[in-house]
Amino acid sequence: MSGRFEGQTLFVTGAGSGIGRATALRAGAEGGHVACADIDEKALGETAELVRGAGGTALAVACNVTDATSVREALAEAVAEFGGLQVLCNVAGICGLEHTEKVREADWNRIIGVNLTGTFFVSQAALPHLLANRRSVISNVASVAGLNGQAYSAAYCASKFGVVGLTKALAVEYSQRGLRVNCVCPGAVRTPMIGQSLPPEGADPDLLKRLALVNAFTRPEEVAGALLYLASEDARSINGIAMPMDFGNNAA
Ligand SMILES: NC(=O)c1ccc[n+]([C@@H]2O[C@H](COP(=O)([O-])OP(=O)(O)OC[C@H]3O[C@@H](n4cnc5c(N)ncnc54)[C@H](O)[C@@H]3O)[C@@H](O)[C@H]2O)c1
Repeated sequence: MSGRFEGQTLFVTGAGSGIGRATALRAGAEGGHVACADIDEKALGETAELVRGAGGTALAVACNVTDATSVREALAEAVAEFGGLQVLCNVAGICGLEHTEKVREADWNRIIGVNLTGTFFVSQAALPHLLANRRSVISNVASVAGLNGQAYSAAYCASKFGVVGLTKALAVEYSQRGLRVNCVCPGAVRTPMIGQSLPPEGADPDLLKRLALVNAFTRPEEVAGALLYLASEDARSINGIAMPMDFGNNAA
């Protein structure tokens, strides 16, 4: 297949579902060698099959982003298979809504662990591979919850503000070495995550409405398109941005 990512290897976390799967499919359709990484091995295998079924090249690599050893092994497997790494898409993430006074330590640690520490672990382990190229890219998925406060989302907001900060820190630190690092900040996207994010008991309906101000959903394919635009040469001068995808809800 030919396209913007011909001859490049892309490592996509969270590739078993939603935005990650859409990103893997689009990257494969645009000629990339796609290393599909996820903790859910069955879903992961399905994504890799879908990429191949559409004529692309894919490798399924089981990976828990909260486990630095698992991350290093998954990256090594992808690099060994495809001979290098040019693009990392950090998509894996989890959510959970709760009244802040009731958030359990384990749930705080789980959300921060996957969304923020996971993004750090994968980025750090990918750096030697990425920096071996003249040009390379990290495209992260943050959220509008990484730009604005949201009720019942203390851990999720903290993790996504962290992803925005991590994005900018790496963008500044590595720009002279040919690495660009950006993130996208979607509002609501219709994926399995939405169904799993149930409001806590007794939630204030007015505060809940503000979680998705306009009753509109961004499509997973649109987030994939934005991630891969940022990863493409068209975005050569874009570095360190956090791009909202929320129909302008947070523009005012
Ligand atoms: N859906 C939304 O409304 C929305 C909005 C803004 C941002 N996001 C972000 O988009 C990203 C993707 O979410 P989605 O909506 O596609 O959700 P999803 O639940 O469909 O997919 C998330 C994927 O991450 C994987 N994952 C979870 N923990 C993991 C771990 N420890 N190691 C490796 N993989 C792991 C899951 O197995 C799953 O395949 C997340 O970072 C999420 O925070 C989602």
